[in-house]
Amino acid sequence: MKLTDRIRYVGVDDLSTVLFERQWPLPYGVSYNSYLVVDEKIALIDTAAAGFREGFLANIKQEIGDRKIDYLIVNHMEPDHSALQAAVRLEYPDCTIVTNQKAVPMIEGFNGLTENVMTIREGESLSLGASTLQFFMVPMVHWPETMVTWCPEEKTLFSGDAFGTFKALKGNVTDSKSNTFEDFKDEMTRYYASIVGKYANPVQSALKKLGGLEINRICSTHGPVWENQVADVIQYYDKLSRYEASHGVCLAYGSMYGNTEKAALALAEAISKCGIPCAVHDLTEENYSFALRDVFKFDTIVLGSPTYNNGIFPPVRQLMEGICDRQVKDRRFFAFGSCTWAPASVKLLNEMASAAGFEILGEGATFKQGYEPSKFDAAALAALV
Ligand SMILES: Cc1cc2nc3c(=O)[nH]c(=O)nc-3n(C[C@H](O)[C@H](O)[C@H](O)COP(=O)(O)O)c2cc1C
Ligand SMILES: [Fe+2]
Ligand SMILES: [Fe+2]
Repeated sequence: MKLTDRIRYVGVDDLSTVLFERQWPLPYGVSYNSYLVVDEKIALIDTAAAGFREGFLANIKQEIGDRKIDYLIVNHMEPDHSALQAAVRLEYPDCTIVTNQKAVPMIEGFNGLTENVMTIREGESLSLGASTLQFFMVPMVHWPETMVTWCPEEKTLFSGDAFGTFKALKGNVTDSKSNTFEDFKDEMTRYYASIVGKYANPVQSALKKLGGLEINRICSTHGPVWENQVADVIQYYDKLSRYEASHGVCLAYGSMYGNTEKAALALAEAISKCGIPCAVHDLTEENYSFALRDVFKFDTIVLGSPTYNNGIFPPVRQLMEGICDRQVKDRRFFAFGSCTWAPASVKLLNEMASAAGFEILGEGATFKQGYEPSKFDAAALAALV
């Protein structure tokens, strides 16, 4: 598909994979985006995931017919973009792989390619004829070898996973009135929270480094090509990587026999009645990436966990560890949960939240056996509102 005379989209939609990286659900699929820059020389920027070889090569042929690819630019080596490098080399044996030094051993290690690899350094350019590709390193967004490719003549940034989002394109390759940033915001947040969230500092450094470019188009490796809402998308990434959140509650819980759940639902209702947005997640029903998304969205985290073997109920512990692992900052925190003989979960959650630097709202609410509203609602609400 033609984005401009020179820039073509040759990516593919994945509507069948259930779990991205075998852990993040894809209710709306995902796209693996790849682009051609067609000039006197032709460059292909990144490839696609294993299993899409035929469709991917067909997309390339459709754009360039019998012409050959001169350069394969490797921005990122995660296999969702690098798995078809050997297939490209087989189809276009003379193409030169262009990448940075850190990616070279990865290309060999994953795909066995060592010949005709050209390494470039920060800021170096490659001429394709009338157009140029310039390379900027953005290490740890979210792998060490990650770089982005800038085409100044087209004011286009090939950004790798940065600004990427889950959700397949189904033919709507660019953002438009019927394919807006708002339509993708939740899935972009979930992608960021799950995959990139730990690397806020590298994202901030990358944003600063790229801040001087006059970007008209962002070609990410997942989700739409941003043409109309470039500024919104950059601003949102800036916000996410500063851990900025709006006022609201992400209330996530796990419950074996329903006692902690009763408290969770009562608390959610009470919070909503106060006019505060409250997203509720049952962590025994749902992958924790949905709650993580709302942890990045809202300024208050409320977690409900029964005490389990003198500890935190495992699904809740997984989320809390995920939050700590991503070094989430500037949040308010409240914990509650049922136990039967000796409480531990609330205390342990509060300790983790304290270590993360969160503001602890009250001491939390533990109750023995069954939940009754009188046991903690007043205290909990007073702390939260
Ligand atoms: C495997 C297992 C381990 C438990 N470990 C503890 C414990 O260490 N301390 C405690 O007070 N209660 C423990 N309990 C009891 C639960 O915390 C109690 O049943 C609680 O009410 C469950 O809340 P729920 O209805 O929200 O699942 C355990 C229960 C199970 C099934
Ligand atoms: Fe990646
Ligand atoms: Fe990716």
